[in-house]
Amino acid sequence: MFNLQGKVALVTGSSRGIGRAIALRLAENGVNLVVNYIRHRKDAEDTAAAIEEKGARCLVVKANVANDDDVKAMFEQIREEYGRLDVLVSNAASGVLKPVMELSGRHWNWAMDINARSLLTLAQQALPLMPVGGRIMAVSSLGSVRAVENYTAVGASKAALESLVRHLAVELGPKGILVNTISAGAVDTEALKKFPNREQILGGALERTPVGRLTTPEDVADVALFLCSDLARMIHGQTVVVDGGYSIRA
Ligand SMILES: NC(=O)c1ccc[n+]([C@@H]2O[C@H](COP(=O)([O-])OP(=O)(O)OC[C@H]3O[C@@H](n4cnc5c(N)ncnc54)[C@H](OP(=O)(O)O)[C@@H]3O)[C@@H](O)[C@H]2O)c1
Repeated sequence: MFNLQGKVALVTGSSRGIGRAIALRLAENGVNLVVNYIRHRKDAEDTAAAIEEKGARCLVVKANVANDDDVKAMFEQIREEYGRLDVLVSNAASGVLKPVMELSGRHWNWAMDINARSLLTLAQQALPLMPVGGRIMAVSSLGSVRAVENYTAVGASKAALESLVRHLAVELGPKGILVNTISAGAVDTEALKKFPNREQILGGALERTPVGRLTTPEDVADVALFLCSDLARMIHGQTVVVDGGYSIRA
């Protein structure tokens, strides 16, 4: 339906959670994958096995997206294995959850480097491999535009990420590359387990979401698939919110 047969996608942080769901959705639609992870090799291998079961090829690469040398080495492997990259999804994220007064420069740089600056390096490396029609997507959160308790460093990094997407869109649009952000509401993944108030976040999100359920990794993956397709050919430089209406509530 989406005519993505034979294309190649890199999804950073696709060993689990939202990244894994995006990788699987693309594989179901004929896309060959690069699964990236940093620590959990077993999860990455499980994801790769699930991708191959769907008939797609999969390259698994351990790389810290905040480390330029790691990213360059990952692209060397992509060049050797596939010789092209049609879709880049910058999904990997990390961050320390602390009140503002307890945040150090190291915490700040950690979140900025992994969540925002990584897209710059990834896009710079991806471009020479990307044909006209390529897609770059970043996965962000509502914390980029809202003040969420203890989320300062990650929220600021997501705001920087969304701004970077708009700047990339202006420069890469003329080259035939579409660049967008997908911003998700609360999704119950491993990441949420780091929040001391996880139950409160999920309960609150459920109560305030007009469609009456939480956003799932598959909801996000479906939007990523849509943005990869020709149906989304005039969506460019946007932040597409996937949250069942949560963020429109007063
Ligand atoms: N969960 C939510 O409520 C929610 C809401 C809105 C937006 N998001 C966004 O959605 C994205 C995915 O979130 P998630 O909930 O699926 O997270 P998750 O379950 O914690 O998974 C994080 C993924 O990123 C990888 N990763 C972490 N640091 C990395 C690094 N430095 N280099 C390379 N890979 C790294 C992890 O690899 P390992 O498995 O090897 O550790 C894992 O694959 C993030 O951008 C997040 O901000 C999440």
